[in-house]
Amino acid sequence: MKVSYILPDGAMSTYRARSGDTLLDVALDNAVPGIKGQCGGGCTCCTCHCWIEPAWLATLDKPHQDELDLLAYAWGRTGDSRLACQVRLSEAHDGICVRVPQQQS
Ligand code: FES
Repeated sequence: MKVSYILPDGAMSTYRARSGDTLLDVALDNAVPGIKGQCGGGCTCCTCHCWIEPAWLATLDKPHQDELDLLAYAWGRTGDSRLACQVRLSEAHDGICVRVPQQQS
């Protein structure tokens, strides 16, 4: 399946992913800037915040409470915000598109 990341400058890159990967796995495998994943997917750092394109948001499992609690600290949080480490992909997500926040130092 394919996953696309849109960077803050509007540039879009598309990568291959496997069913079972998370959005963080794909981002780290392809060095997508702005998605750091400092806690290794443990849902404790918020450095994998991204925005899911609205058309795809409803296809994802709902976020659990720990993710929602952490997202409260995410810069630029919106109703489309998710933590990439908590979004696990299946074949139903082929073509999903996510936006990446400006890289924070
Ligand atoms: S990698 Fe730390 S919260 Fe997702």
